[in-house]
This record gives sequence, C-alpha cells and structure tokens, in this order.
Amino acid sequence: MILIDGKKIAADLKAALAEKVASFPEKYGRVPHLVVVRVGEDPASVVYVRNKARACDAVGIRNTTLVQDESISEEALLELIRGLNADDSVDGILVQLPLPKHIREAKVIETIAREKDVDGFHPYNVAGLWQKTPHMSPCTPAGILKLLDAIGVDPKGKRAVVVGRSNIVGLPVAKMLLDRHATVTLCHTRTVDMPSVTREAEILVVAAGRAKMITADMVSEGAVVIDVGMDTDPETGKLCGDVDFDSVSKKAAAITPVPGGVGPMTIACLMENTVECFLARFA
Ligand code: GUN
Repeated sequence: MILIDGKKIAADLKAALAEKVASFPEKYGRVPHLVVVRVGEDPASVVYVRNKARACDAVGIRNTTLVQDESISEEALLELIRGLNADDSVDGILVQLPLPKHIREAKVIETIAREKDVDGFHPYNVAGLWQKTPHMSPCTPAGILKLLDAIGVDPKGKRAVVVGRSNIVGLPVAKMLLDRHATVTLCHTRTVDMPSVTREAEILVVAAGRAKMITADMVSEGAVVIDVGMDTDPETGKLCGDVDFDSVSKKAAAITPVPGGVGPMTIACLMENTVECFLARFA
C-alpha cells in the first residue's frame, strides 16, 4: 500500500516554484502578491488562511491577509474587492469561504476580477473548465490530479467514482478526470446503494464532508483512494477524513492521509495559480 505523501509532493512543488519566483525581481521588478481576505473567526478558516500565508512565505510570494469583522456588510466587502481588483500591486485575490450567512458568496465570487481569481471560482473560470477554454483551475481538484500523476496513476481508461457534487471539489474534479479520459461516476448523499457504486471505483475521490463515511466494504481491493474530507472524528474529537483510514488502507493500493494528503496540495496549487496570474500580467 502506498501512503500518498501530499505534504512531500506539495513541498517539492513549492520548492520548484520558489526557484522560479526568485528570478522574478530581476525579470519583472517584483514578486507576485496574493491578498487573502478572511471574514470573521471561523476556526477552520483561521487555520487555512494562516497556512496560505506560510506557503507564500516559503515560495517567496508577497502576501497580505485582510481580516474583516463578521458584521461587515456585503456591500462593504464587495467594495473592498473592487479596490483590490483596481490595485495594480495585487496579482491574486482569495476570499476564504464560507462567509457569514448575510453575505451572498456568489456575489463575492463574481466580483473578484477573473484575472486575479486564484481560486478558479469565478463563473468565467468555471465555464472555461467545462468548455475547455483558457481558465484558472480550482486548487483542490488540480491538486488531486497532481497527486495521481506523482504516484504514476494515469486516469485514462480507469473507472473513477467521485463522492460529492460541490462546486469547489466534486463537480470540477469529475470534469478534470473526464478530461484525462477516465470514466466518471458522480454520487452523493441521495445515491441509492452507494457501496455498489463506490466498489466499482479504480480511483475513488471522496469529498462529501462526512467523517469516516467510506468504510472498507465500500472499496475494491487495489483502489486508489483520495480523501478530501476535513472532519472531526465524533469519537475522538480529532481531525479525520471522509474515509475510515484504518480499515480502508488495508484494501487500497494507495490512499491519502488526513491531514497531509490533499490539503497541502490545494495550497501548493494556489501558489501556482498566483504565479500564473502574476505572469499573465507581463505576457
Ligand atoms: N474554503 C474551503 N476551501 C476553500 C478554497 O479552496 N478557497 C476558498 N476561498 N475558500 C475555501
């Protein structure tokens, strides 16, 4: 069984990016600049945003974290984003989700200039993915495909099953696997007899947001299992994934741990996207 070391694969990616970024001051007169906006004090968001800033430091990307009070109005947040759109010193903008309920996430996402949309969430970038026109790829799905590449698993011709149909992970990763010529089944909480579907998977990607929902009986011997979950184990209170690691790892050919699997890859891909946004401005 291969334990897929996302932390190491992400570190290698970031090291390669750092080398590239080191040449930018001479070539372009400055380094890329990412602005991350966090609204409120959601504990998971606090951790994610801190990790994004640390990754920027490791790669040599200038980064600014703007923390806004949870009570900020939607209009004030949109104004803040418009200001960042117009700011020539800013290459990438990320607004950490989820947002407080009184703020419409769709409004926020569509307000970020598509050229600075390092998340790949803007409707034009989403359309670009589905229409195969130039776009920014969403970070978690891109990171999952890089993990598969890193362990030498080619999706071409394989049966992939994706559990979860969110805009952030399930839908885009299914499309990216399709584009790599996998045969893809999408399933979700209303899927009838999910084990009969997931057992068909040669590549199983789980992004359902339910602690340990994938048990060993749901996985075929030799499957490659990618766990996107970031859940709290109801028994221990510790961080765990959507996959019951202890039992599933006995059957899988390869599996991602939580933490240390997909998470670091998301952030590495965010660094890549930031560099891409920066370079596009000089093209
Ligand atoms: N919240 C959870 N994942 C993400 C992500 O990839 N980007 C943003 N902006 N918020 C998130």
